[in-house]
Amino acid sequence: MDLSVAIGGKKLPNPVGVASGTFGYGGEYEQLVDFAAIGALYTKAVTLMPRPGNDIPRIVETPSGLINSIGLANVGVDRFISEKMPHCRELPCAVVVNIAGSSADEYARVLEKLETCPGIWGYEINVSCPNVKHGGMAFGTDPAQVERLTADLRKRTKNPIIVKLTPNVTDIRTIAKAAQEGGADAVSCINTLVGMVIDVGAKKPVLPMGTGGLSGPAIRPVGVAATYAVSRAVSIPVIGLGGISGPLDALQYLLAGASAVQIGTANFVDPTTTARVLAGIREFCERENVSCIKDLHRFIP
Ligand SMILES: Cc1cc2nc3c(=O)[nH]c(=O)nc-3n(C[C@H](O)[C@H](O)[C@H](O)COP(=O)(O)O)c2cc1C
Repeated sequence: MDLSVAIGGKKLPNPVGVASGTFGYGGEYEQLVDFAAIGALYTKAVTLMPRPGNDIPRIVETPSGLINSIGLANVGVDRFISEKMPHCRELPCAVVVNIAGSSADEYARVLEKLETCPGIWGYEINVSCPNVKHGGMAFGTDPAQVERLTADLRKRTKNPIIVKLTPNVTDIRTIAKAAQEGGADAVSCINTLVGMVIDVGAKKPVLPMGTGGLSGPAIRPVGVAATYAVSRAVSIPVIGLGGISGPLDALQYLLAGASAVQIGTANFVDPTTTARVLAGIREFCERENVSCIKDLHRFIP
């Protein structure tokens, strides 16, 4: 059985990755997981300058999920290259760097710096962060900006470009098509949904910015529906995520049309979810006589 996934002329060793922002830069989990069982590490978002992130609290639990407002806290691209990449490039999995910015120029400068750094498999362009005042989701809700930004980054690299879509739009297919038009090799589907929790006693929102991004099992049906819609609207691979915590959840995404999946919030409960999900996918494919992930797509027309 061949579980590798082709994206933009490169291959991921298997279809199960760990989602940006939930696995740090890898090192944090080294004592806990076998990275050889992980298809790809999608790093925490990297920006041009270091960012301290938003005020605390940054996370609040909700039924079947959590709302985060981290605010893209990260060490900045220079320190990412000098301090994090030497370790990342030793990992046996593909390293996909998640890039964020508040202007098209910032995305371009971050990518250009990363291009000088060996060991990067590809880039995930985060145009879907709901927790920053400038950039982030503002790009990802406008098809024209997504196409322009993707086309500009496309000119600067031969590595795979994956555009990460926000579900906080009227029709996610228009954004996916814009990414494809701009030259993206794949889209990841979905980032978090805007949500709010109010502390009734204090009569104010729990998170300092008011809203945050909802993730976890609560958003899985939204992610599966988005994956189903997007995979029928574009010809590039779709990487499905949102609320996956076991093999059956991942199989929903793959049957809906995803070519690969990512595990996010579930890592906070069980960091070995990835290996469990991969084993379950393999078992299912064997039982169903399916020899590659693409064959799963024929079950639901
Ligand atoms: C604490 C936290 C931090 C996140 N940081 C990022 C980030 O830096 N870049 C990004 O593209 N997505 C980020 N995400 C979104 C996840 O990668 C993922 O798209 C989302 O959580 C849905 O998947 P899940 O339900 O499996 O967590 C973050 C999510 C969480 C919970």
